Amino acid sequence: MINLAVFVSGRGSNLKSILHEIESGKLGASVRLVVSNKTACPAFKTVRKYSIKCISVSDTYRNESYVSYNDLLDIMKAEEIDLVVLAGFLKKIPDMLVEKYPNKIINIHPALLPSFGGKGMYGKHVHEAVFNKSCQVSGATVHFVDRVYDNGKIIAQEAVDISRVESPEEIAQSVLKIEHKLLPFVINAFAENKITIKNNRVMIEK
Ligand code: GRF
Repeated sequence: MINLAVFVSGRGSNLKSILHEIESGKLGASVRLVVSNKTACPAFKTVRKYSIKCISVSDTYRNESYVSYNDLLDIMKAEEIDLVVLAGFLKKIPDMLVEKYPNKIINIHPALLPSFGGKGMYGKHVHEAVFNKSCQVSGATVHFVDRVYDNGKIIAQEAVDISRVESPEEIAQSVLKIEHKLLPFVINAFAENKITIKNNRVMIEK
């Protein structure tokens, strides 16, 4: 059983899928913290029925509703967080957090990295770019987080045929379905100690 901190900025459908897998006994993890860069994050509503601590973090603006990243680190330590999951968190993770959790922060990206990633490539911007390039496949990527946006080593990817789609929204829908399976799969592999890095490559044991 591992303890998770899930970082979110939006609606939280990936957070929901993680909680669903935990509830159905398929994922040996516990969501101890939900962290957002907003105070009124829609995903906070998703977890209202669970007794999960919700925290708003800010590295610039601080009032009593926000904690600093230093305070957050203390809270994460107290909650014995094993893995940080970025599930639609739109702010860059400060370097000091990346250093404190080496290979223990993962992110889900709604495209096949290293294409269509980096600063500004989030949400509908990704799917519009994929659509306008006339890509015939897209997909989701789960990767380790390093100091650069969408740059860390890739842990898992799944592709989907988009040769027949007629809009970026259609791509978003197909990719989201994949995301909801891929992220819990990787978290589960982490929980079962099945993720190794060898010869510069990440492997998930079968
Ligand atoms: C997902 O598409 C994820 O890949 C990206 O942000 C989106 C978050 O969606 N990083 P949700 O809030 O989990 O519904």
